[in-house]
Amino acid sequence: MPQAVVIIGVQWGDEGKGKIVDYYSSSAEIVARFQGGNNAGHTLVVEGKQTILHLIPSGILHPHTACAIGSGVVVDPENLLKEVEVLRQAGVPDLENRIWLSDRCHLIVDYHKHLDAARESRKAGKIGTTKRGIGPAYEDRAARRGLRVSDLFHEKLFEERLKANLEEKNFLLEKYYGVPPVNMEEFQSKYREIGKKLKPFVKDVSRLMADSIAEGKKILYEGAQGVLLDMDYGTYPYVTSSHTLPSQAALGLGARVPVDTLFVGVIKAYSTRVGEGPFPTELKDAMGDRLRETGHEFGATTGRPRRCGWLDLVAVKYALRVSGIKNLAITKSDVLSGISELKVCTAYELDGKTIDTLPADTDSLNRVKPIYETVPGWQEPLTEIRKYDELPQNFKNYLKFIETQTGARINLLSTGAGREQVIDLKKAF
Ligand code: IMP
Repeated sequence: MPQAVVIIGVQWGDEGKGKIVDYYSSSAEIVARFQGGNNAGHTLVVEGKQTILHLIPSGILHPHTACAIGSGVVVDPENLLKEVEVLRQAGVPDLENRIWLSDRCHLIVDYHKHLDAARESRKAGKIGTTKRGIGPAYEDRAARRGLRVSDLFHEKLFEERLKANLEEKNFLLEKYYGVPPVNMEEFQSKYREIGKKLKPFVKDVSRLMADSIAEGKKILYEGAQGVLLDMDYGTYPYVTSSHTLPSQAALGLGARVPVDTLFVGVIKAYSTRVGEGPFPTELKDAMGDRLRETGHEFGATTGRPRRCGWLDLVAVKYALRVSGIKNLAITKSDVLSGISELKVCTAYELDGKTIDTLPADTDSLNRVKPIYETVPGWQEPLTEIRKYDELPQNFKNYLKFIETQTGARINLLSTGAGREQVIDLKKAF
């Protein structure tokens, strides 16, 4: 393993990054998150036991790793403490020392969640968010009125900032959205208690990261969501409120990434998307239902059914270009076993013209028609296969097709949810 690996989703999130992170984190000393919040959901299956984490990096299940949550992450402290409790109950050791929560993280508090839910309940401007308060918390950060983790330990400052915030938030909640306001005293006492419980985890993450990098420690950076949900380079406005590109790894942790860093993009062997927004290869037919059922395509965070479609290499190539990624991990190929012919989108048609990239505006993106190449599928199940040579020839051809089209190299293959269901292709290609 190089000194560091950055793992990024290359589609609309839910690519199975948690599983790939888990694979690499067996040799990592630090696993770090640098953006997003508990809108993410990583499902891990270790020795048949399923754990779903939303905020704490999945590396926590390896007892030797430290897990950093950098300043680029928005933190719902209630959610974080709940995850800590679940891990504690499961016997995961030494959590206070192993979880590094940046004192610079912005907090997601009650009014952010209420505002997110109130906005989403209106028809106009609905994004289909996870209603976890992510957008409103990032808005406050940009508007310089956010509450940060460090503020929890300065009561007077916390009170002053809260007072100013509540005046505006309660006006919006009550008068604009017609939902109950937040009570200042109840809020203060709730977050005072939360602060006490959170304290052992709070650290200067930027410094810890810089020191660890200088000491040559092995680091795994865990991206959340995917490039096509990036605030600028995704399908705006149907995006999340953070940057999901690999360059955010340095910004969101307050330390440059090591020179010897491998950037890995994770793609699903087909496409999915949750929430609203353009999705050129979406299948609203029996094949879409088949992918959803076989692939268990229901959100780990909200339980919402995911929209499913064929692999869209126009979108993937665009995402690889804006993120600079040249190495891929492919997940959920096992879901495609038994389909006689597979379609892969290699170009779009827009107003009678063939285009090979993602237009910036949703109007065009909603109108593009996918141009497909049809490739033969494979009948054999993949879940028990551990060696490249034993894979069905048509599946190997599918991988080659992805490599040729994207110019990227496939490093890793996941053939099921379990930790052991991985084929490392480094030696195969
Ligand atoms: P938000 O991040 O909750 O504001 O949601 C904005 C958009 O990003 C919505 O379409 C969500 O469904 C999507 N989204 C956010 N987090 C994830 C994720 O972890 N996986 C997939 N989609 C996500």
